Amino acid sequence: MSTVLLAGGAGYIGSHTAVELLESGYDVVVADNYSNSCPESVRRVEKITGKSVKLYEVDIKDAEALEKVFSENNIDAVIHFAGLKAVGESVEKPVLYYRNNIDTTLSLLDCMKKFNVKNIIFSSSATVYGEENQVPYTEEMKRGTCTNPYGWTKVMMEQILEDTAKADADMSVVLLRYFNPIGAHESGMIGEDPQGIPNNLMPYVAQVAVGRRDHLTIFGDDYPTPDGTCRRDYIHVVDLAKGHVKAIDYVFKNKGVEVFNLGTGTPYSVTEIVTAFENANGIKIKYEYGQRRAGDLPESYANADKALKILGWKTEKTLEDMCRDLWNWQKNNPNGYNR
Ligand code: NAD
Ligand code: UFG
Repeated sequence: MSTVLLAGGAGYIGSHTAVELLESGYDVVVADNYSNSCPESVRRVEKITGKSVKLYEVDIKDAEALEKVFSENNIDAVIHFAGLKAVGESVEKPVLYYRNNIDTTLSLLDCMKKFNVKNIIFSSSATVYGEENQVPYTEEMKRGTCTNPYGWTKVMMEQILEDTAKADADMSVVLLRYFNPIGAHESGMIGEDPQGIPNNLMPYVAQVAVGRRDHLTIFGDDYPTPDGTCRRDYIHVVDLAKGHVKAIDYVFKNKGVEVFNLGTGTPYSVTEIVTAFENANGIKIKYEYGQRRAGDLPESYANADKALKILGWKTEKTLEDMCRDLWNWQKNNPNGYNR
């Protein structure tokens, strides 16, 4: 059976992907420096699946340390989740973001070359569509202008991977552009565990529900959208994880570069999703309206046709599933993994 290296696999999306890969029969190796995670998530992946995961504490930027991971395992494909992802922090610390996100990518590509590994899937983001493109986003649109260094690192890494594939006809690269992953595994054993004040909407809502935060501030109610709040394409993290299994099957059978949106294609506003959380869980969320947040686009959602046509993947879970599973994780783990 093939072995997949998950770089940054102890994190939110990586841990859910590990479950789906293990349940599809793949062997999984995780390499992570725990800068935004902890080994407990991987232990829980093992509990959910009853399978073992080889785990390395390693900074992916450190190509020498990474070589050990490649030399001790027969890696067939890499999924590159390892990155810093806080948009606001990236504006304050651009060099940290460029250094971490670009260097992890370069080190992985160096090791892959050295160990003759030809397949890589990259965690990109809808953010690469930038400000110019119109929703719904389709994969052939040109990458746009980003509003922050985090977004630019994704644009640059897509370019680096495309150039690398161009130089090596045996390579297979899949760029997965995620929309807004939320929710958690239905077991409630793994989920999103942000440190400090959550930057993203749903972890914040869950912390209000569990009593860690007093109230939610909705950033802006004067956008040109039906109810004045921003609209996003929220996708259940388990659906997203399953998209990676399809992408792994794909990279083994194809060469070159392919890009896929991973979204539902249906946008919901901030107000709609807060109401959905309340209804799914029977909990009231205290909120108030505040100023717009710098850099937010009014709308971001996918045209998800290509992933269906080529990968045979589409989302299966509903907004209610996302809200219920998020709460199941949060109420069972009020302080996340207690790291
Ligand atoms: P996460 O922070 O939970 O996971 C990232 C993991 O990478 C963490 O475990 C972290 O410790 C690890 N990591 C970071 N730098 C590393 C390094 N130098 N060496 C080793 N490990 C390192 O984030 P996530 O939500 O699971 O996101 C995974 C990927 O998907 C990221 O690249 C992110 O930018 C991308 N993405 C996420 C979202 C989202 O909304 N969550 C949206 C679009 C794209
Ligand atoms: N929001 C609030 N209050 C909060 C947090 C968020 O009203 O406390 C609003 C935001 O203004 C936005 C919506 O909720 O309208 C969603 O915000 P998130 O921060 O959850 O998600 P974003 O769409 O801003 O960001 C996500 C990913 C980024 C990625 C970006 C574009 O987190 O990694 O999509 O693809 F860059």
